[in-house]
Amino acid sequence: MNLENLIASLKLAFSQQLEKADTLEKLEAVRVEFLSRKGKLPEILGSIKTLSPEDKREFGPKLNALKQELEKAFIDKKDNLERQTLETVKKQLQYFDVTAYNADQLFGSLHPYTYLIRHIENIFISMGFAVADTPEVETEFCNFEALNIPDDHPARDMHDTFWLTLPGMLMRTHTSTAQNRIMKQQKPPIAVVSPGRVYRYEAVDASHDFAFMQVESFFIDKNVNMGNLLALIKTLLQAIFEKTDLNIRVRPSYFPFVEPGVEVDMTCPFCTTGCGVCSQSRWIEIGGAGLIHPNVLRLGGIDPEQYSGCAFGFGLTRLAMLKYGINDIRLLRSLKVDFLKQF
Ligand code: FA5
Repeated sequence: MNLENLIASLKLAFSQQLEKADTLEKLEAVRVEFLSRKGKLPEILGSIKTLSPEDKREFGPKLNALKQELEKAFIDKKDNLERQTLETVKKQLQYFDVTAYNADQLFGSLHPYTYLIRHIENIFISMGFAVADTPEVETEFCNFEALNIPDDHPARDMHDTFWLTLPGMLMRTHTSTAQNRIMKQQKPPIAVVSPGRVYRYEAVDASHDFAFMQVESFFIDKNVNMGNLLALIKTLLQAIFEKTDLNIRVRPSYFPFVEPGVEVDMTCPFCTTGCGVCSQSRWIEIGGAGLIHPNVLRLGGIDPEQYSGCAFGFGLTRLAMLKYGINDIRLLRSLKVDFLKQF
């Protein structure tokens, strides 16, 4: 075939392929086949080296024109396709419906903590209590001194504390910090519930975490007694677990900020003979409680001769584990979708 025919058939093949290329991917294949370094156009352009000087004079301008024609046709086609693609995307976006039904959609749900906090708050609101939100970054005073735990008190050892570099500041180790703050803001009668996150510099296992939730509640008025406290605890637990025949144990205990003090346990729902969650004891400790110590009332600006109060602080994390049958505390702070989507 002479060069004239080769040029004509290359033009034809190129324009047919270009015509067929209706996507940018197909167009790229055309570029590779014809225009790339090893493509058909450079091959034919290279043949000029083999021509006689007269043929070179004749075909030099023709090959040059061929190169320009093919490259221009390619660029025009590319511009066209890009414009079309953009328009299609624009059209799709215009009609994009964010609410459209999708069978595979993953629906969000509330975290078990959120369900439980709402439930507990509603129980207390129905009894006339107010909900208080107090800071997680606390003063040493509210966390310890105001709760009758001075600097040298051995009870400080029970609270492995995350101290901040700011002097006298810490991550609260319990929600009892709410007591002094609220006492200073309100006059008795005071009835408050305050759920929130607390932090302890502790080793993590199936039932202990270094960041967990507690719920504090206290009630201050004239003649508040242990009977009021136990009634409050019973009402709360029966409402949370939605049954009246709960297996609860109340035993004497010591907290510097209450006198007398008790601890409240519930039987372990995960075993019948002892397991890792209950440390083989069959009982799970859910919190402490007692009558507010006169020193604590005094530090809160309340006269203990006139008023008395009761308080409890429960492990809301433990309550969530018991209510929802979660046998590893770490799951509650994990972001495991398989765990979370059960709620
Ligand atoms: C307190 O924190 C007292 N402030 C409770 C209190 C309030 C007593 C008012 C009297 C009056 P304690 O350190 O025992 O107490 O913690 C209370 C509950 O928090 C425990 O019973 C347990 O249920 C939970 N808890 C304690 N440490 C952890 C932990 N590392 N991980 C998960 N839950 C914990």
